[in-house]
Formats: sequence, C-alpha cells, structure tokens
Amino acid sequence: MKLWGGRFTKSTDSFTDHFHSSISFDQRLYQEDITGSIAHAAMLGKQGIIAKEDAELIQKTLKEILADMEAGKVTFDEKAEDIHMNIETILIERIGDVGKRLHTGRSRNDQVALDIRMYIKTEIKEIQSLLKNTMMVFNQIASENVETIMPGYTHLQRAQPITFAHHILAYVEMFKRDYERLTDTYKRTNCMPLGSGALASTTYPLDREFVAEQLGFDSITLNSMDGVSDRDFCIELVSTLSILMMHLSRFCEEIILWSSHEFRFIELDDAYSTGSSIMPQKKNPDMAELIRGKTGRVYGNLMGLFTMMKGLPLAYNKDMQEDKEAVFSAVDTIKMCLPVFTAMIETMTVHQQTMYHATKGGFTNATDAADWLVKNGVPFRDAHAIIGQLVLYCINHNTNLDDLTLQEYQAISPVFNETVYDAIRVEKCVAARNVKGGPSQEYIKKLIAVNDDYFKMI
Ligand code: ARG
Repeated sequence: MKLWGGRFTKSTDSFTDHFHSSISFDQRLYQEDITGSIAHAAMLGKQGIIAKEDAELIQKTLKEILADMEAGKVTFDEKAEDIHMNIETILIERIGDVGKRLHTGRSRNDQVALDIRMYIKTEIKEIQSLLKNTMMVFNQIASENVETIMPGYTHLQRAQPITFAHHILAYVEMFKRDYERLTDTYKRTNCMPLGSGALASTTYPLDREFVAEQLGFDSITLNSMDGVSDRDFCIELVSTLSILMMHLSRFCEEIILWSSHEFRFIELDDAYSTGSSIMPQKKNPDMAELIRGKTGRVYGNLMGLFTMMKGLPLAYNKDMQEDKEAVFSAVDTIKMCLPVFTAMIETMTVHQQTMYHATKGGFTNATDAADWLVKNGVPFRDAHAIIGQLVLYCINHNTNLDDLTLQEYQAISPVFNETVYDAIRVEKCVAARNVKGGPSQEYIKKLIAVNDDYFKMI
C-alpha cells in the first residue's frame, strides 16, 4: 500500500504511477532529504514529540541509508513516487513502526521546499567558485595584454582604439555582477521552511530555529503558506544563471567572429575546436557555438518556471514538482559551460599583430584627430566636419590619416601642423584615454590590481 493509501480503495493506474513519479530526477536530492530528516528527527526527540530513543534510532538508520546509497546499494521504486517517500519507505522497511514516526509534524510540501533550498545553496557556492576561476583567468589574460592594441567596435564597425585587456576586463565587470547576484540569491534561499507543514504549519511544538541551526540556515520562513509555495529563489537562481549565460554567449559570439578568416584576431587551441567530416581545412569553434546555443536552454528553463508559477493559487500545487528539472538543467548547463569556456579562452592564441593592424585601418584615430583640432582652438563640431572631409579624401585616395602629407592636411585646414602625427598614433590614442574606466595602460594596470584584491576578498 502507498504511504498515503489509507483513503483509497483502488490502486493507482500503473501509467499514472509513472506519470506523476519524480524519483527519476529528484533522486539527486537524496543527501539533502536525509540530512533534513535527521535534523527533523533530532528536533522531534529534543522536544519530546517522539521518544528520544526513537529519534536516535531514526537518525542512526538514516545515516546508514545514506551510506548505502553512496555505495550504490539502494534501488528506488517508481511506485514510491519521489525521493521523500522512497527514503521513508526504506526507513520503515528497516526499523518498522519507529520509522513511521519520522513524518510527525511534517509534510512533503515543506520537506521538498527544504530540500531544494539546501540543494541550491550548495550549487551556488560551487558555481561561484567556478566563476571566480573564470574571472581570475580573465584578469591574468588582461595583465598579459595591457599593450595589445585592437580596434573597439560599435555597430560592429571599427570605432576607436582600445586594448585587448580593456575588452576582456569588460567581461570581468559582468562576471563580478553575476557573482554578486549569486550571493544575493543565496541570502534569500538561506531561509528554512520546515515547520510550514502542508500549508498551515502544525499543532506540534516544533523548534524551527533548532532545525535551521542544525542545517546551517540563517533564518526561518515567517508564513507557512509562503513557506511551501515560494519558488522565487528557484526563479532568482535561474534568472541569475540566464544573465551569466548571456555574458558567456556574448563573448562566445566574439570568439566565433574573431576566429574567422575575416578577423583572425585569435586562434582557438586544437583541444577546443573541431574539424569537419567533409572539408579537410576546417577548424570550427564548436565549443563557443554550443555555449551560445545552450544559453537558449537556460532561458527556456527560466520561462518554464515563470509560466509554471504564474497561475498557482496558494499554497502547494503539484505543478511545482516541475521546478526541479528546470533548476537542475540550468545548474548542470552552467557547470558544464563555465569550465569549457574558461579553458577555451585560457588556451587561445591572441594574434596581437593582426589586432594592431586592424586598428590602423578603418580610421579608428579619427576622433583623436578631431580632438587635436579642438586642442588647437577649433570648435568640436567644425573639427568633426574637417576630419570627415579628410576621411573622405583618404577613402578616395586609398590611404589613411597617418600617411597623409602635411600639405594634404593643410589643404583642408590651415590649422594643422606636424604635431598631429604623434597625436593620432594609436598607441597615443589609447594612452591618452586616461579617464577612470578607460583603456589607458595606466588605468588598466590599476583595475587589474583592484580585481586581484577583489578575488582575495570573495
Ligand atoms: N514530489 C513532490 C514535489 O516535487 C513533493 C511534494 C508532493 N506533495 C504532495 N502533496 N503531492 O513537489
């Protein structure tokens, strides 16, 4: 008979058993479930809700079940529905009536809410440690490329000279925000729901703070209806992971572009590229493409969770069983993507000369030429127009601003003198952008040091 079978006269249709069972995926919560039950049993014993010896036997047996599971000695039964009832069934098989006392003052509704919070807390720490490694690798690459001049783009058109360090440190800023968002999500997940019961708490004198303390939670939920029906923390996590995936995906897109023959800014290591089954010359950025593609999967998980929750009346509804696969899939995806992403970037070759030459074409120093005029008394709008004419002249004569003669400059504006050449050297253009937040070598070195301090702090 099912653990809840008392009021039923017929057994469940066997396909229905299969349909509503979640053991195939929620078995990964076994550790959280057992740890939570051990804390619950300890509290029941301490409060005299069940006999001390019973509480002790339950705790001891649960630890044995955990060890057996870890040794692969336990098989689950789909008919027992989910991880909670599978473990309870095994407990009862082993210690009979004493085992039946564990579920006193508890419901699977608060039990599952507890398990998933515990799971997410652990995973957030793991993802943060992967992300910290990514940031440290990026900061290191930046320190090797403080002098690596490349074109910065807007509209994917060459715009102004920057450095590769500046570019890659933009991603460190994104990752720092992702890291902070994970910390923030952790805070709201770190709230203990057990004691909410099915929805209206319980009549037993539970010590909820004790359970929270045993399990390392820093607070307890304050409304039992919310305690069992809140999945905000799942949505927050997957939303945070979606933003993180978006950042990975944007850089992957750049890697894909930069490794093309058209750009050739970088070359991926053989270990992180693949060939074609028909075209012998091909070296494809498949890993970057897959990460970009998998971003869609994580967004899908987020939309799934939002849609699953939007119409649910309080309190628990079985719809919420669908939360787990979405959360697991998002967590698994990010944990696969981050190490591949990081290693792919860490091992790629940066073609510094190609980047530098790309900066020379496309008039990336045109703004600096205009700024030179401004510094020599020309109003900015006039300067803009003069340089625009010079650019047009260069396009028509297939040359660039660096290679014009002084006569050619002066033919368009008599203000020009030979100091303009030094002012529009791309090295100078970068160094001159010494505003906080800019690409100058001086500022970038400071930022790298700030980041190193941040990594020591987190
Ligand atoms: N397997 C269920 C879930 O994941 C556990 C809670 C079930 N509660 C219930 N009353 N059916 O949400």
